[in-house]
Amino acid sequence: MTDQPPASYAGPQRVLSGVQPSGALHLGNYLGALVKFARLQHEQDTLIFVADLHAITVWQDPALLATQTREITAAYLAAGLDPAKATIFPQSAVTAHAELGWIFQCVARLGWLDRMTQFKEKSGKHKERSSVGLYTYPVLQAADVLVYRATHVPVGEDQKQHLELTRDIAAKFNHDFNRPGFFPLPEGLIEGPGARIMSLRDGSAKMSKSDPSDNSRINLTDDADMIAQKIRKAKTDPEPLPESLEDLKTRPEADNLVGIYGALAEMTKAQVLAEFGGKGFGTFKPALADLAVAKLAPISDRMRRLMADPAEIDRVLAAGAEKAREVAAPTLDEVKKIVGFWR
Ligand code: TYM
Repeated sequence: MTDQPPASYAGPQRVLSGVQPSGALHLGNYLGALVKFARLQHEQDTLIFVADLHAITVWQDPALLATQTREITAAYLAAGLDPAKATIFPQSAVTAHAELGWIFQCVARLGWLDRMTQFKEKSGKHKERSSVGLYTYPVLQAADVLVYRATHVPVGEDQKQHLELTRDIAAKFNHDFNRPGFFPLPEGLIEGPGARIMSLRDGSAKMSKSDPSDNSRINLTDDADMIAQKIRKAKTDPEPLPESLEDLKTRPEADNLVGIYGALAEMTKAQVLAEFGGKGFGTFKPALADLAVAKLAPISDRMRRLMADPAEIDRVLAAGAEKAREVAAPTLDEVKKIVGFWR
């Protein structure tokens, strides 16, 4: 046959990622995701969405959800995303995500979802009271990526397993319907010092929106005093900072603060230790606080200014949704044909 696609994906390179509007963004989201989005938009076709379909897998106050969607958009813009370069949109405004999501629910296997650690963490002891959506959440995530045939997905380390599932679904679809290379097997863009920012109160727990202690995280909306205070109170050990990376490995809280410094200053951990090794936290913490304030205060200022004009944010989202629909439509159309739906 002449129209047989090549065995591996031969389409254009495309970046896609998203953030849930389920609470204030923190430093982990910023360093693990937003910073990468802003960089990648200059290198590749980039689509960045607000994952409102994912957010409702746990209860969201309907009166707040749209505001939180605008807040995430403001954070994207404040972090440097440019709507003239990147396509920025709300997930629910492009119905192709949900349509492909259903088809993928019929491709993914129960055993694959049973292995997802994030569901176990999020459902905790109340598995039977969790929404079905929380369980099938990673399948929708695969549809988010593949409906645009995205090839690169910038995320923090906690999304690694979801990305592997995306690749498994893409491969199974291509195989089951005998369409090798129809979907790409997307690559995660995870590496870097910001990939896994830990709680300021516990170096073994990830910095998270859902941690009950606000002191565990730096929010993008925190003012300079709050940022400095949270860093001052951050858990540490009594020893000075080590000289070598090897010695940092056994000190999770110190490792985390050195990693944060490195990610903010665009330095490796080794370079941070070359500057601060042998010095105590009494010296290092104020330096880190100054750096964090210098980097984050302008972002929260910009966010506040953007939030004062929600109509402008809505214009960005509406224009982005229109563009995203155009990119998604041919893929969804083709999928429906491949699956054999009446048309
Ligand atoms: P979400 O909203 O939990 O987090 C958004 C992004 O922030 C990263 N992140 C972190 N990075 C470093 N350190 C941390 N402590 C930290 N906490 C969060 C996350 O890895 C993520 O990149 N399921 C996704 C949203 C989503 C998505 C997608 C992402 C839905 N569909 C398709 C990519 C592609 C989520 O809940 O992210």
